[in-house]
Amino acid sequence: MPLAVELRSITKRFGAIVANERVNLAVERGKVHAIIGENGAGKTTLMNILFGLLQPDEGAILIDGVPTVLPNPAAAIKAGIGMVHQHFKLVQSLTVAENVFLGMEIRKGLFIDHRAQSERTATLSKQFGLEVDPNERVGLLSVGIEQRIEILKVLVRGARTIILDEPTAVLTPQESRELFQTLRGFVSQGMTVLFISHHLEEVMEVSDTVTVLRLGKEVGVRPIAGLSKAELIQMMVGHAISFDRRPRQKAKGAAVVEIRDLWARDDRLLPALRGVSFDIRRGEIVGVAGVAGNGQAELAEALSGLRAPSHGSILLEGRELVGRSARDIRAAGLAHVPGDRLVRGVDRHASIASNILMGRQDALPWSRRGIIDRSYLTRRTEALMRRFDIRAPGPQSLVKSLSGGNIQKVVLAREFSTEARFLLIDQPTRGVDIGATEAIHAEIMRQRGEGRAILLISVQLDELIALADRILVMFAGRIVGDLDAAGVTEEELGLLMAGVVPERQRDVAGIA
Ligand SMILES: Nc1ncnc2c1ncn2[C@@H]1O[C@H](COP(=O)(O)OP(=O)(O)O)[C@@H](O)[C@H]1O
Ligand SMILES: [Mg+2]
Repeated sequence: MPLAVELRSITKRFGAIVANERVNLAVERGKVHAIIGENGAGKTTLMNILFGLLQPDEGAILIDGVPTVLPNPAAAIKAGIGMVHQHFKLVQSLTVAENVFLGMEIRKGLFIDHRAQSERTATLSKQFGLEVDPNERVGLLSVGIEQRIEILKVLVRGARTIILDEPTAVLTPQESRELFQTLRGFVSQGMTVLFISHHLEEVMEVSDTVTVLRLGKEVGVRPIAGLSKAELIQMMVGHAISFDRRPRQKAKGAAVVEIRDLWARDDRLLPALRGVSFDIRRGEIVGVAGVAGNGQAELAEALSGLRAPSHGSILLEGRELVGRSARDIRAAGLAHVPGDRLVRGVDRHASIASNILMGRQDALPWSRRGIIDRSYLTRRTEALMRRFDIRAPGPQSLVKSLSGGNIQKVVLAREFSTEARFLLIDQPTRGVDIGATEAIHAEIMRQRGEGRAILLISVQLDELIALADRILVMFAGRIVGDLDAAGVTEEELGLLMAGVVPERQRDVAGIA
């Protein structure tokens, strides 16, 4: 039986960037075939080529064994290929069924046969477990349901091979499981699925076969059965990765940051920090664990001058920060990687170079007598792009054209290249793929080695355990645990995060 889809030696360039370099892809009918790779590996480009949205510079496409040219999506649909995009394009004012049949309405004489459209939508929805109400308006529906409608659109157009580009990125875990059942349903009925993701667990759960792309090249195709997560990671990033505990030496330097009895209210004016005290020494990483909403966000805001504490003191190298503006606090020696990087971390509409410059337009050697030294800026940006492995055509590329992981690296490159003695790092690897995570971790360790005092706030316990020297656990606005990271377990942290305070931690928490 011929392959459902075969791509032979596909090359696609965007200017100097080779997004796909002689990529081969062989997809058997009736299988879920995953395509994985880090951000920027070329997955979306390859799928856009298969869906006729992009033309390859070189290479051939075979569908059911027949060489096929796909000048546009209409041609791809005709050849039985459908694609569910990362961003949905539904018309809010129309019903579910009207959206499903948009552009290919079933007619009775001059009129749209709404009844037939609804019935057909209901039948398909039942057949594949894509639960929707055909007559409901789209305006009010959840993202998960919108995705089902997009899938139904692809089905009524007669797709036999369905491409889903990072479909789970917008779904809850429950919705993801339902989607996987639908995908297994497709293949059990003889259809073929191309599933793109960078989540290894998902890929291993739902796929039969996986093709791995790295830096635009295909580095392997494997059946999932018998493949370990470690092997898959190794293929993705090109070398083995481990989150092993590193040997730790106690930081013995002087306290750079001293926080004493800090209190603050949240946006609803309820107490969010209730007497937080701790020190951070030179060359020490202090981790902060906690279930979201237990004061971590307010702590970060208080430290960076974005929220006024109601009581207490924050000393940075002996100087009081409470009462000073965010700008003053930066000048005093704080660098801040915010948790919401797209809101506070970068100007998305500006270039990488402008973002690197941000906050030091008036400082030597970036500018002289009010004039920015463009050539210095370009050289520094290029050097930082190399050091932080920021994948983009050049310093003038706009931040909004970068992937999430690369945007995060721009923020880190800027903040870590200051002279700040105190680094406040909030969720450094949220939404970042595994290779970039490793690079970011290495950079944080390097900053520690340079003697900076680091406060690392993360929801990922494995990240805290891998990097921190001590881990503070926050619960209900207090520090309920101060643990040596060398011996701590995730279970131990989990109990503290849930508010279960063991005897030996009581004095730390100040609980009578
Ligand atoms: N339209 C485009 N113009 C310029 N560069 C692009 C364009 N689309 C993708 N790229 C670049 O091609 C590479 C592969 O991107 P992409 O296919 O989106 O990767 P993935 O989907 O695996 O994250 C990246 O370096 C990206 O910046
Ligand atoms: Mg992509």
